Amino acid sequence: MTKEKTLILLKPDAVQRGYIGNIVSRFENKGLKIVGMKMIHITSSLSKEHYAHLVSKPFYSDLEKFITSCPVVAMVLEGKEAVEVVRNICGPTNARKALAGTIRGDLSNSTSRNVIHASDSKETAEKEIPRFFKKEELFDYKLNEYYFYASDE
Ligand code: PPS
Repeated sequence: MTKEKTLILLKPDAVQRGYIGNIVSRFENKGLKIVGMKMIHITSSLSKEHYAHLVSKPFYSDLEKFITSCPVVAMVLEGKEAVEVVRNICGPTNARKALAGTIRGDLSNSTSRNVIHASDSKETAEKEIPRFFKKEELFDYKLNEYYFYASDE
């Protein structure tokens, strides 16, 4: 099974509420490899690009105001089936429906202030990663994978 990369954004509510460490720890604990990480302030034009599929929704103006209100932490995580694994750790978009133990289940009670964005498919991840990271901002370093996966996984 090949490894995948996926993009996550720790949204302004995660930064303001002091949850960066809490959230990053969950991905490290799971065994996902951090291959890119930085703080950025999303601009109005980057918001419109990233949320292009939502620009016509009634909530878009609030979404743009929120996502541009404070810096976010962008990360690229790598691992076997990373897109699905990360989405499961996040829980559903509506945090009120998210199970305890997931990031949204534990840290949010909202659909809009839901602390994290995660790529929803491998195809989306392949578009979202270069939107936020230049090639030289992604790192290919060795972890001893013997302690993460068996050779037939
Ligand atoms: S998902 O989880 O990405 O598949 O869901 P999707 O419906 O495509 O994404 C919705 C994103 O818009 C943010 N948002 C809202 N959604 C629904 N209703 C309201 N009012 C709303 N306000 C903001 C929601 O947090 C999702 O953001 P991302 O960053 O994609 O998780």
